[in-house]
Order: sequence, then C-alpha cells, then structure tokens
Amino acid sequence: MVNLIKSKELSEQIVAQISQEISNYDTPPGLTVIIVGENPASKVYVNKKKKTAEKAGFNSEVIELPESVSQQELEDYIDRLNNDPAVDGILVQLPLPGHINAYDIIEKIRPEKDVDGFHPVNVGRLVIGLEPYAVSCTPFGIIRLLEENKIPIEGKHAVIAGRSNIVGKPLASLLLNRNATVTVCHSKTKNIEEICKQADILVAAVGKAKFIKADRVKPGATVIDVGINRTKDGKLVGDVDFDEVCKKAGYITPVPGGVGPMTIAMLLSNTLKLFKIHNK
Ligand code: GUN
Repeated sequence: MVNLIKSKELSEQIVAQISQEISNYDTPPGLTVIIVGENPASKVYVNKKKKTAEKAGFNSEVIELPESVSQQELEDYIDRLNNDPAVDGILVQLPLPGHINAYDIIEKIRPEKDVDGFHPVNVGRLVIGLEPYAVSCTPFGIIRLLEENKIPIEGKHAVIAGRSNIVGKPLASLLLNRNATVTVCHSKTKNIEEICKQADILVAAVGKAKFIKADRVKPGATVIDVGINRTKDGKLVGDVDFDEVCKKAGYITPVPGGVGPMTIAMLLSNTLKLFKIHNK
C-alpha cells in the first residue's frame, strides 16, 4: 500500500508555530513581494503568499508593477527595500518579462533580505555546505517533508527530473549535503527512463503533466511531485501520473496538497529567520 505524503497538517503546524513566535515581538517581520506584469499563475501564488503571511502576523506588502517597468525602475524599488529597516524579506516573483535581466535583479537584493535564497551568495553557501541566509522554499519544503515522514536520505539514490535554479539545482545540493547520491536529469538526458527507475527518491520538477509514468518508477520508491499543471478542463495535475504511479510507489505526494503548501510555510520560516538576524 502506498503512503500519501500530505502536507496540510504539517504546513499548518509550521505556520502556527511561526505565528506564535511572532506574537512575542513588538514589531512584526516584514515581507515584501514584487510582482511584474499580469501572469495569472504568478498572481495566484503571490496572493496566497500575502494572505498566509498576514494571517500568521507578518507585515506583508505586495508591489504590483506593470509589464513595461524598466530594469532601472525595478532595481530602484529593490534598493529602497534593501534600505528599509521594516522589510526583512524581499521576494521578486519569477518569471520576469523578457526585457528584464532576472539575474541582475536577484543579485541586487541584499543576501540578508533574499528570502528566496536565490542570490549567488546564498546559492554558493548552500553548494559548499555553509548555512545560507535562506534556502529556496520549494526544495527546503521537500526536505522537511522527507524528514518528517522519516524517509532516509543518506546513501540513497535521489533522481531529480528538472534542473531549474528554483527547484532542481538547490534540491540537488540539499540532498548531496545530506549524503544522498544525486542524479539530475533534464531535457537532453539520454535514457531518462532507466535513470528514473534507479531512484529511491524520485523528484519530478519538469512542468509537464504526467511526465513520470509508472514504468519509470522503482517499486517502493518515494515519489515527490513538484509540478502544478492545469489541464484543459481546469483540473490541477502534477508532473507524475498519480493514479498509475501510486500503485507502484512506497510514498507519493499528491497534487494539490503535497509540495505546494510547504513552499509557503518555508517562505514564512525564511522571513522569520531573516527578521531574527536583523534584530540580533
Ligand atoms: N516562481 C515560481 N516559484 C517561485 C519561487 O519560489 N520564488 C519566486 N520568487 N518566484 C517563483
């Protein structure tokens, strides 16, 4: 029988703990999210982040900028937030419009306010095994889910399908730092089926609906689904063919209700951590 790795209870528990901790302070931690343009999925994510942050007692602000905003204007906003003592965490929702250099934007955020853990200083610290100010929220949430469900990492073969800077690469470092043997697959990988089939822990983060079929899964494997894809009839499905794979996997995350809620819980956890660093 497959074990479902659900995150509702755990994420609510983490947020409740954070909220409790915040109530001990005179001023709330501040989280500012910048969103550029009209990407509907980004708007949904940003609204959810703001709502959950406010409910937990954070001071949460969303700056909505038009698609036409210039690189300089966006960098000026970040400068202001970098220098605002009420702002502990800055998050620029990705993707950004094509005329914006996202790498320069990320580098403009002070590493101590980079709540996403995307700044090269934070990524670099993660890669060499030092503690970053913050770790990318989705991979960090995946590690929490594995740990809470007592799924061993050390010595296991973890296969990650997807090499994004947001999920695949930081997750590879987090798993490697915990002594997993890590393989990262991508669109140019040969024999991806064979590699996935070797995984004790298989993470799907490619953004393609039902990309992982049952024949790519080792019996008893732990399958983590990062995908959020909307089908033509409006249904949310992951990157894993859930109905088939759950007959073969040992553990599996559902979509929705698996990785997603943990991402927001980790965002709030990162914000609180940065707040504490700023108030030391
Ligand atoms: N777009 C998709 N996921 C993320 C995330 O974790 N952080 C930011 N800033 N943008 C995203």
